[in-house]
Amino acid sequence: MSGIVLETKLSDIKFLRRGKVRDVYEVENCFLIIATDRVSAFDVVLPNGIQDKGRILTQISVFWFNQMRDLIENHIVATELKDYPQILHKYADILEDRSMLVKKAAPMPVECIVRGYLSGSGWKEYKKDGTVCGIKLPAGLVESSRLDEPIFTPSTKADEGHDINISFEEMAKIVGEDKASFLRDTTIAIYKKAREMAEKKGIIIADTKMEFGLHQNRLILIDEVLTPDSSRFWSAKNYQPGKGQDSFDKQIVRDYLLTLDWDQTYPGPALPDDIVQKTTARYREILGILTA
Ligand SMILES: Nc1ncnc2c1ncn2[C@@H]1O[C@H](COP(=O)(O)OP(=O)(O)OP(=O)(O)O)[C@@H](O)[C@H]1O
Ligand SMILES: [Mg+2]
Repeated sequence: MSGIVLETKLSDIKFLRRGKVRDVYEVENCFLIIATDRVSAFDVVLPNGIQDKGRILTQISVFWFNQMRDLIENHIVATELKDYPQILHKYADILEDRSMLVKKAAPMPVECIVRGYLSGSGWKEYKKDGTVCGIKLPAGLVESSRLDEPIFTPSTKADEGHDINISFEEMAKIVGEDKASFLRDTTIAIYKKAREMAEKKGIIIADTKMEFGLHQNRLILIDEVLTPDSSRFWSAKNYQPGKGQDSFDKQIVRDYLLTLDWDQTYPGPALPDDIVQKTTARYREILGILTA
């Protein structure tokens, strides 16, 4: 068991890039993706780490990637050290349970977002205009209402700053009509399957965001999938439409930050211990429930 991992350094492995949460290396003809314990909120990486977060995210993603195999090919090549190239074995401490060896893909320049409940920015827009990302919804919905037909609300993938919501037509202009339709249909199919599976375990998946990439001319699912970093998870038992819901994800962190006088730009404030601990506990709890 090693402590919190905030940054990795594998001195004889080619380092490619540091995302907000993941460090990416190149090994032979694969990428090695290490999920650290970094946490970001409002697109700013905070100074604190969340104990075991990287491990938990990796295990949740692996679970869902496997569940979705009948719907879409994913990027996993190996997740266990024994199946990694020998050169990586000396980094067992850093790699175990928090890394994946993956197929190299060219990431699509869009985030595929699907919403099955009315929450967050979607709820705000609906209250004002009766739409979510320009999609007209029935009248009379309340905050956290279930949408029987989930809606696809893509966004651009900004290199810096915040992603911007776009319409399906704008997405089609960026990636082409055929790919846009495939990505929309696959995203919704993955969400519907996950929503049904999670409901049986008492978890509502309110919305989620996924990424696809082109590998050998095929679109495959990459990055992470259906984790508390990329999704809103609610407890079905406590679900009460008409208000915001307590969630299993980093909403605790976001809610805390909203109590501060912080302009949501770099650098982010340090989190107090109790917020860190509550967040770790939440991540552990959701892993246990989903993969039980
Ligand atoms: N199989 C893959 N092939 C190529 N790139 C991948 C693959 N899987 C994940 N990625 C990329 O690796 C990075 C993972 O890092 P992380 O999730 O921390 O990034 P992020 O903060 O979400 O996004 P950003 O790239 O904006 O920093 C992402 O840029 C993601 O697009
Ligand atoms: Mg990411």
